[in-house]
Amino acid sequence: MFARAQSAATASVMELKALVLAGGKGTRLRPITHTSAKQLIPIANKPILFYGLEAIARAGIKQVGVIVGDTRAEIESAVGDGSRFGFKATYIPQEAPLGLAHAVKISKKFVGAHPFLMFLGDNLLKESLTPLVKDFSAKKPNAQILVARVPNPRQFGVVEMDGDRVVRLVEKPEEPKSDLALVGVYMFDSSIFEAIASIRPSARGELEITDAIQRLVDKKRRVTVKHIDGWWKDTGKLEDLLEVNRLILDTLSASVDPTASVDEKSKIEGRVVVQEGAHVVHSTIRGPAIIGKNAKIVRSFVGPYTSIYFNTSVEDSEVEHSILLEEARLHNIRRIQDSLIGQRVEVVQSHSMPAAYRIMVGDSSRVEVP
Ligand code: DAU
Repeated sequence: MFARAQSAATASVMELKALVLAGGKGTRLRPITHTSAKQLIPIANKPILFYGLEAIARAGIKQVGVIVGDTRAEIESAVGDGSRFGFKATYIPQEAPLGLAHAVKISKKFVGAHPFLMFLGDNLLKESLTPLVKDFSAKKPNAQILVARVPNPRQFGVVEMDGDRVVRLVEKPEEPKSDLALVGVYMFDSSIFEAIASIRPSARGELEITDAIQRLVDKKRRVTVKHIDGWWKDTGKLEDLLEVNRLILDTLSASVDPTASVDEKSKIEGRVVVQEGAHVVHSTIRGPAIIGKNAKIVRSFVGPYTSIYFNTSVEDSEVEHSILLEEARLHNIRRIQDSLIGQRVEVVQSHSMPAAYRIMVGDSSRVEVP
């Protein structure tokens, strides 16, 4: 019943398309993603999604379908027509996050008979996609999956192997049979569409790509596996965002934009990037850290592994191991650490009596106080 895999004799790196999933709901990152796309949270001052898009462009892919949901407008205004990355972006609206396989299903017209790479927009990995794409294009399996060992396999699709052979794939199993998680980078030929047509929604109500790949295995289709070498993160949770922020900041080289200013009373230590129009006044910035466009850091300490995004203000405060989003403001706060401060959030010290916490935070927020 499965059609023959598309003749791959003509397939080349240039013919491979990509599908990037940037829909869905970021429930685990509420409230940050009540209003904005989780894939656009900046890591080292660059949206998560852009790391994947840049890797796709570097792998030579020229046509990219972007799955979008409620946050379509934001994703579209950030990614545009794709020309800044060197590919053509086509937006594919998904009416609701009905599963990764559902996203593939609705992309059939965009994909056509081409082989394609599917990339989950909230995944970040060190690995270059280029050798993976080359290998897939050369060996032409029906599917190529990427796996990594994880300490918490219950949160992922889990792959059981027998030597090099895939035996079983289970989505978020209660009792994982291995610690090999599916990484959010897959390559398929068009046989995946028939596999998807034959699966039903899972217990969580989604059409799972994991089940569709299992269907390929059941039908004796060729599913090959690559083990990841470098780090990989699914940025679903705060700890993952902070860790990936640390990993990426560690790769930056120091620079101060000529339009930025650092006064003589300030100290810049280690690998620090100061972006356009930022002002550092009477402050210490200890790298690795990045100070965003038009940020103002005054009489403050910005510690290691901190990303301060555009148009923020940090005054008489200390912050480290944290991410501040656009227009966030810290005033007289000692010290913030391991935190993600949302867009336009203000954290200020109050001198009013009686001394007490006065808090206005959104739904599902988490505030830890001493
Ligand atoms: O990160 C790897 C894991 O990703 C795999 O190990 C799992 O097997 C796989 O199912 C997936 O699990 P998640 O539960 O983490 O997927 P999530 O719902 O976070 O969605 C991943 C991305 O795809 C995210 O950027 C949102 C987008 N998405 C998701 C769904 C369900 C869509 O665009 N449409 C959708 O319908």
